[in-house]
Amino acid sequence: MSHLDNVPSTPGKFKMEKSPHIHSRLRWHSSTAKLTFWSFIFLALILIFFFRSPSSNPLPQDSFRRSLRTYNWGGPAWESQVRSSARVRSRNGITVLVTGAAGFVGTHVSISLRKRGDGVLGLDNFNDYYDPSLKRARQALLERTGVFIVEGDINDSALLSKLFDVVPFTHVMHLAAQAGVRYAMENPSSYVHSNIAGLVSLLEVCKSANPQPAIVWASSSSVYGLNTKVPFSERDRTDQPASLYAATKKAGEEIAHTYNHIHGLSLTGLRFFTVYGPWGRPDMAYFFFTRDILKGKSIPIFETANHGTVARDFTYIDDIVKGCLAALDTAEKSTGSGGKKKGPAQLRVYNLGNTSPVPVSDLVSILERLLKVNAKRNITKLPRNGDVPFTHADISLAQRELGYKPSTDLQTGLKKFVKWYLSYYSGGKKAAG
Ligand SMILES: NC(=O)c1ccc[n+]([C@@H]2O[C@H](COP(=O)([O-])OP(=O)(O)OC[C@H]3O[C@@H](n4cnc5c(N)ncnc54)[C@H](O)[C@@H]3O)[C@@H](O)[C@H]2O)c1
Ligand SMILES: *[C@@H]1O[C@H](CO)[C@@H](O)[C@H](O)[C@H]1NC(C)=O
Ligand SMILES: *[C@@H]1O[C@H](CO)[C@@H](O)[C@H](O)[C@H]1NC(C)=O
Repeated sequence: MSHLDNVPSTPGKFKMEKSPHIHSRLRWHSSTAKLTFWSFIFLALILIFFFRSPSSNPLPQDSFRRSLRTYNWGGPAWESQVRSSARVRSRNGITVLVTGAAGFVGTHVSISLRKRGDGVLGLDNFNDYYDPSLKRARQALLERTGVFIVEGDINDSALLSKLFDVVPFTHVMHLAAQAGVRYAMENPSSYVHSNIAGLVSLLEVCKSANPQPAIVWASSSSVYGLNTKVPFSERDRTDQPASLYAATKKAGEEIAHTYNHIHGLSLTGLRFFTVYGPWGRPDMAYFFFTRDILKGKSIPIFETANHGTVARDFTYIDDIVKGCLAALDTAEKSTGSGGKKKGPAQLRVYNLGNTSPVPVSDLVSILERLLKVNAKRNITKLPRNGDVPFTHADISLAQRELGYKPSTDLQTGLKKFVKWYLSYYSGGKKAAG
């Protein structure tokens, strides 16, 4: 990974102490004028660099495949942006590194933390798994609330170490991942890169950080896999994943166990159940159904082999955010130091769902009413490519220990999503997909 350790300008130009002595024959006021001139140029360059907004100046790297990407980071201006974003503004505030901050959940969590006065620094690689311009728009939103997103990869340990050198994070909210179930057929290695290698690289740096942060991270309801006993409880078996995505999330839970056991890291895994809402993910059904219904395109509605309904426990983003913040606020400190465990540390896993599975056909009916357009339904058999027929969360553990209580039903939540969708994709914005 390439990075800049200097201000990206012409560093040779401001040898301020030297030049007056080298040119000793120059009169005093001339060298002062020179000094003033170069100081001015230097300051101007710093200011230009500092205020250069990545959203108004998208990098051409966007069109590259993620494996070819390199990122620019480092330098005094960059460090000062990092520090300023991570500065705590309230009493008892926490300092949080949010990975995947330009993502759907990451954006909402970052804004909530920042609004209550916590220090927040984002990290995201802006990959093109789905339209990166949506990630850039979320980034612009975060910038307006004062959250800076460092552009880089969680599998880049040099970058992660640098971030921990600059800021002593008390907490990490780890949301960066390769999400999506069906994409694993196309690009399996992206799941290994982000969900396995990236997770390990993050935990390695957290383990060695002084102090070690407490980590809250996103697992997934998909770990329940072929489990048919509902509702899904944290005590149920999770050894039958139905997709590579699910397998990497399950592996993440086991990796979390070892880092907790060996290094004393405080770790909380949150199993999200189908999260939806404004600024959501274009690869998810509620999102592309909305797009395709509006376009008059037919939408696939899956049913099980024996004409059974496919249902999801849809969870509204605001409820998920409350769960994430509650997990951060109840996280105990990690117990290790210098990479060595000093005593037992907290290890938790919670379902964050809504407890009311809705058949996908009902989701479509709600969207038809909200959009005032009839959908063209194409009823098809659920392909065996990773999707499970239904999900249903038992949330009693999160309720008890986190005070988690989802309060938005699908109708109310979709109304807010549709309102956002229509305003985002009208008004000069390009059409989705
Ligand atoms: N949205 C859901 O319904 C849902 C359900 C279950 C679990 N989850 C999990 O929640 C987390 C957040 O999901 P989301 O819906 O916000 O997805 P998202 O794709 O919108 O957000 C993930 C972000 O992480 C970034 N990222 C991916 N790999 C990275 C890497 N190697 N380095 C740096 N950044 C990287 C992406 O660019 C993206 O912005 C993920 O771990 C996901 O697996 C989401
Ligand atoms: C992750 O980074 C390491 C170097 O830190 C590299 O050797 C490895 O290939 C990377 N893994 C993936 C899956 O990208
Ligand atoms: C309906 O779905 C099937 C199977 O996915 C597909 O082959 C067919 O083209 C679809 N029909 C329409 C009208 O989109």
